[in-house]
Amino acid sequence: MAEKKQSSLNLQGINAAIIMDGNGRWAKKNALNVTSGHEKGVDVVRKIVESAAKAQLESLSLYAFSTENWSRPKKEILGIKKLIISAIDSQVPELVNQEVRLNFFGDYSSFGDDVVGAIEEAERATAFEDPRLKLNIALGYGGRADIIEATKLIASDIKSRKLSEEDISNEIFFRYLKAPISELDLLIRTGGDHRISNFLLYHLAYTEIQFTNTLWPDFTEEEFIKCLEAFSNTERRFGKRTL
Ligand code: IPE
Ligand code: IPE
Ligand code: MG
Repeated sequence: MAEKKQSSLNLQGINAAIIMDGNGRWAKKNALNVTSGHEKGVDVVRKIVESAAKAQLESLSLYAFSTENWSRPKKEILGIKKLIISAIDSQVPELVNQEVRLNFFGDYSSFGDDVVGAIEEAERATAFEDPRLKLNIALGYGGRADIIEATKLIASDIKSRKLSEEDISNEIFFRYLKAPISELDLLIRTGGDHRISNFLLYHLAYTEIQFTNTLWPDFTEEEFIKCLEAFSNTERRFGKRTL
């Protein structure tokens, strides 16, 4: 039943994103350490990416690690680092099979050269020109840092006369941001909290936002499809009078 529904969803051109929250609470609930929660979270990513490709989404952007997450315990960060390397190792062949283009964004250099190298290799291996799905992973990402960096770059380009002040538009601003999407259509946050936690701030202007209490490691393809269906049934008005 779920399978049949899934194949009938057509979300071509739609950019979706997920704040994958709740790994720590899931681990606590199951009397496991936090790294086991993150590990379970990676398994869920694999299934959701497959569903996103079947639903024909243009892109799926996943919030994996925020600028604020650097203040977590060293041990947790080391666990996440190891997990990034092992997840890339195990999942890239599947992504290649599915023609999914992988792209990391954010400042992840502090994870170390081994992580940076693994990411570069994974991006090269999946650099399809016309991918079935664009999978963007936000790692060491913060919406505010993105906006501030873009503003600095714009200021510098104006100074060097590569850009004139009059040319600054919404479209141009998107080009200066590091996040590889422009308008975000749908954002899902798992884990029960109703906040943005410094994700794609500039991109969220007209995004449909859905919150679910499900902890990320418990999130299923079925629930994801329900979110996508609810999104397809929403009338988006963009400030216009439609009655
Ligand atoms: C989200 O899960 C993953 C990261 C932020 C890396 P959390 O680790 O924040 O899980 P909770 O919110 O503590 O349950
Ligand atoms: C948001 O979750 C970041 C990611 C899911 C990567 P957090 O757990 O860091 O957010 P807060 O602390 O609850 O706002
Ligand atoms: Mg959290």
